This record gives sequence, C-alpha cells and structure tokens, in this order.
Amino acid sequence: MKINFSFLLILTGFCVYAQNRTISIRVNEPVADVQPTMYGVFFEDINFGADGGIYAELIKNRSFEFTKPLMGWKVEQKPFREGAVMVINRQEKEHSSNPRFLRVKLENTHKDALVMTNEGFRGMGIKQGLRYDFSMMYRTSASGIKMHIDLVNQSGQKIGGTVVTVQGGKDGWQKQEVSFNATAGEPKGKFSISIEGNGTIDLDMISLFPSDTWKGRPGGMRADMIQMLADMKPGFIRFPGGCIVEGFNLENRYQWKKTIGPLEDRELIINRWNIEFAHKPAPDYFQTFGLGFFEYFQLAEDIGAEPLPILNCGMACQFNTAEVTPMDQLDPFVQDALDLIEFANGDVNTTWGRKRAEMGHAAPFNLKFMGVGNENWGPQYLERLEVFKNAIRQKYPDFKIVGSSGTDPNGERFDLLNTSMRKMGIDLIDEHFYRKPSWFLENAQRYDSYPRTGSKIFAGEYAGHDERVPAGGPTKNNWRAAMAEAAFLTGVERNAEVVQLASYAPLFAHVDGWQWSPDLIWVDNLRVYGTPSYHVQKLFSLNKGTKVLPVQSNNDVLAGQDSLYASAVFDADRKEVIIKLVNAKPQSEAVNFSLEGIKLNAKEAIVSVMAYANDLLSNSLENPFAVVPVESSFPVKAKGTVYYSPGYSFSVIRIPVK
Ligand code: AHR
Repeated sequence: MKINFSFLLILTGFCVYAQNRTISIRVNEPVADVQPTMYGVFFEDINFGADGGIYAELIKNRSFEFTKPLMGWKVEQKPFREGAVMVINRQEKEHSSNPRFLRVKLENTHKDALVMTNEGFRGMGIKQGLRYDFSMMYRTSASGIKMHIDLVNQSGQKIGGTVVTVQGGKDGWQKQEVSFNATAGEPKGKFSISIEGNGTIDLDMISLFPSDTWKGRPGGMRADMIQMLADMKPGFIRFPGGCIVEGFNLENRYQWKKTIGPLEDRELIINRWNIEFAHKPAPDYFQTFGLGFFEYFQLAEDIGAEPLPILNCGMACQFNTAEVTPMDQLDPFVQDALDLIEFANGDVNTTWGRKRAEMGHAAPFNLKFMGVGNENWGPQYLERLEVFKNAIRQKYPDFKIVGSSGTDPNGERFDLLNTSMRKMGIDLIDEHFYRKPSWFLENAQRYDSYPRTGSKIFAGEYAGHDERVPAGGPTKNNWRAAMAEAAFLTGVERNAEVVQLASYAPLFAHVDGWQWSPDLIWVDNLRVYGTPSYHVQKLFSLNKGTKVLPVQSNNDVLAGQDSLYASAVFDADRKEVIIKLVNAKPQSEAVNFSLEGIKLNAKEAIVSVMAYANDLLSNSLENPFAVVPVESSFPVKAKGTVYYSPGYSFSVIRIPVK
C-alpha cells in the first residue's frame, strides 16, 4: 500500500515533540556482516500447523491408526448389520507401522446403505471448480464393488464427486486413484464414501488432496500458507519444533527416520499438543508424518532457506516426564544425528544418501546446522550434548551445532548452560523468550554486552505476549507486541556479529484448532493472514542488508531513550542504507538523520511505516490488512534530513546511495 507521507502524519494525528533528536549513521564504518541466515522461521506441528495445516491432506485419520481407530469417521448403515464394518489389527511385522485397516462386508449393499463420512480437520476447505485427488489402498477378491465418493457441504448436499468400480480378484493390496472437481465452495465440508456391491473389501490410507498444492506437488502442502513463508524470504527454517522434538516421554519423541519413505510405512504418533494443555484439549491431534524430514528439506530448498533441524538429545520434556536415556544407551540417538547429516548431504552411494535419492532428490540438501535438544537444561543435558558434539565434530568438523539454553533467557539454569556451552565451543546458543512487550522494550540492549568471539546466538523462539489480552487466541497478536518485537530486533540487528539467526515462534495457528497463542500466521480452512508481528518480521527479513552500520545519538546507541529504538544496515546489492526506527510512545517525534561518509543517489527515501494509535489493534481473517506497512516517500539529504516518526510506529527507511 502506498500513500502520501503527510497524509500518514494526519492519520496518526499525534502532537510532535518540539526538539529534534539527531541520529548519526556512519555509513563508511560498517561494524559487522549481516549473515544471510539472519531472519528465519520456526516451524512446529503445534496449533494444527502440519496435520490440518500446511500438510494439505483433507482426511483426518486416513489410516485408522489414531488411538480410537474411527476418530474423525462416522459410519452409517441402513439397515444396520452387526460386523459389517470392522477394524482389523494385523500382526505381521511388515505392517507394524500401520497395523490397522478397515474390513467392510457387503451383502448386496445398495448405494447409500453403507456410508462412511470423514469430518476433516475442523471441516474441509473446498474450492469451487478445483480438482481433488482421491486415493486409497484396498484389497478385495470380489468384483464389481463400487465406491461413490463425494464432497459434502454443511447442509449435507453433495458438491462434487465421482464413482469408481474397484478391480477385484487379486490377492494383495492395490492402490486406487481418481480425481474429480468440486462443484461449489465450502469452508467446512466433509467427505463421504458410499460402498455398493457384494463381498468383502479391505480399506486403508484413504486420502484426499486438493490439486492446488505448493508447486502442484501431489500429496503436497497448502500453497497459500507456504507462500506466506516464501514472501518473507527467510534465511533459515527450523523444524520440527519445539516441544514435539522432546516428546512428553521418550517414546513420544520425534524420530526423523520414521518420517521418511513410503507414506504407509510412516508410523504416526500422538501429537503432544493433543494433551499438553488441559484448557485446550485436542484429542484428534496426531502426527501422521505425511510431512516428514524429506519434505522439510525440500521446503527449505523451495523457499531458499537453510534447513535447521533440531534433534532429540536423549531427553524427554523436562516439564513432563523428564525421562533421560542412560549415557551408555545414547548411541542410537547420536547415530540418528550422524545419519541425518548423511541423509541430507551424503553421496547417493551412501546408505542414507541413497534413501534421499530414492525419494526423488539425488542432489544434496547442503545441511550446515543442527540443533541438539530443544529447551533442555541441567548437567544431564550438558553431558549428552558433549557426546553429540564430539561425534559430529569427529565426522563433520565444519558442521555447526546449536545447543539449548533452556526455557528462560536468564537465571541459574541459563547461566550454567551459557557458560558451559561457551567452554565446550558450541557454535550457536539457542535462546528462547516468550515475554511481555515491556520486556522486549527493556531488553533491546541485551546483546550489546555479549562477547564478540566464541559462541554465536540463535534467538530461536520469541514472541511478545501482551498480558492485557488474557483470553489468548488471534487477538493476542496485537500491535503493541509487534512494535516491542521490532524494538528488540533493532538490538538484534545492531549485534548481528553476535546474533546470527532469529525466529519468532510459533509460526502457524488454526483459528479452530490452536493450543498456543500468539502466533505469527493464522489460518482457517481456506484463508490465511499475517499478524502485525508477521509484517514486522517480514520487514526485517526483506531489509536485512549486508553490513551493520553504527547508529549513534548523543554518543550512545539508540535503544529506548524517549522510547526510540534504531538500527541501520547497508545493502551492498541494492546500494541502500536502510534505517529501522521504532517510536514506542504515543507521541510523534521529529528525528534528524545525518549519514556520514556517503553520497546519496536519490532525492527521496522510501519509507514503510506501521503506525497505530490503538496498540491493541490486530489483523483477523475478516480484516487481514488492518495492521500492515504503508509505503511512502520523503525528501532526503545526506545531513539534516528530518523524519517525522509517528507515535507507536515502526519505520523502515531506505535511502539509495552511490
Ligand atoms: O513455540 C511453542 C513452544 O514453546 C515450543 O514448542 C517450545 O520450544 C517452547 O516452549
């Protein structure tokens, strides 16, 4: 959106401070490189982020492996016949990851006499005219069995479908695929199968995907959600979490090897967010791993982000069972880490490199970083991390290891981890802070005093949690929190020598299926919008520059004086000086800029401004662009440019230079 700058001032309508503060930027004295990785994204399957989120599968419980085998399904018979539909749990070893299937016995069953309906993940978002791709595994010796498959709207009307007659007479499992178009749109649709015929048919892996997935990949991801990530041009993508890495116990931990290969062999587990919060139960939340490590690597490549996997270190969540693997049984965990590097980077002749090639990606993914443990702490963590570090360094000396600094950015636990990991030579320390907006404002100088040598920082999970919105949900993402995050990020940017990666968390939330808020991006079954925090993150990421420039005001960094916060970078590719300025008070303020040691290449600067007098303002599905950057221009001189910074604002000013 582009508007006239003076109009913006009228819009904000605040009084202007009489005295101008002067900010000087020494363009000819850059202090550090900005890493290309600097601003990234944190992805976890929380809030229906993967299943029911970016993984575009519409059928919930497609393989009948949820704890309750028919959860998500409704089976209706007219008339009812006992035993007509049975859940079979086969014991064969080759099916141990997907033991259940459905056995349906037909007795001259007519259309609509036996109907199975799937409710989807909080319904199914259906788009008029779009092609939908159905598939299932089946086994039958009978011939002539017909499957009537239909999309159904909330009134029970059919809105697209087709009929298939399955090929019988064979012993083994076969795959049936068929596509059809939706005749109408529906935000909360369902899917039904009516089975007609005579004889027995076994069914498994009943699946339905929209055809408009990201890059049109069959069985792929929701394109609108991924586009939001691509638009940020993230430097890295951290996956798969978060707490799901740890699991509530070790059995429930994330095991990447179980997430690759044929879909039907990927053993699902309960998603720990299913039961994590008593006030937000999600009994139907499982991880099917249709979205697994291969797909994460592919996603990273698609959006130009460095992949950053986090692996379990032999410890379950310390807020839950706090189970640990004995030190003498840690080898399989360490081997998982080594094998992951081989899976990502190994030659196609290596064991795991070959598996990657078999999945369709012979070229390496160039994995450079890995996190060992998520939010783990204590000596029990440090001794395990040491084993991982030694094993990884021995085989891959240049590989970068990320260590956890626990759940809090200060305190005894943090201090022990921070000091010990620096002594151990851990490359990056993962810090997490979910804090009030005021914390972010007060901590904009956090990294100014960090050592310039040794371990670097990964600000791996952070978000402003505004305590004025106790109920949570989408409204917790407000302008106050986003503005405070922007102020904090000026401190991160100023210290790009120290902080080399940063990501807001969590990334996605479904309005009908969330457990944790605030989140960066909210969705329903058909729509998506970025929160104010999303737009702040995106502005930083798209304007990260290549060199950090010193910014001074009264011989000091600008980090909270008069509620102003500033940082600046030079972008060597765009030949721009980019200034980020936050004004966290309600009044406007005129600021004088002085650029030292550079010639301007334009008479005007471009500014993207987010400025809202109502700091509780948020975006929503109904009003997705209430809080977004507004672009304008204003006259600029090398020395003595006056910029009117609106109250409660974040401005990104781009000045073309020679
Ligand atoms: O982002 C939500 C959760 O916050 C993550 O899973 C965990 O790492 C942190 O506690």
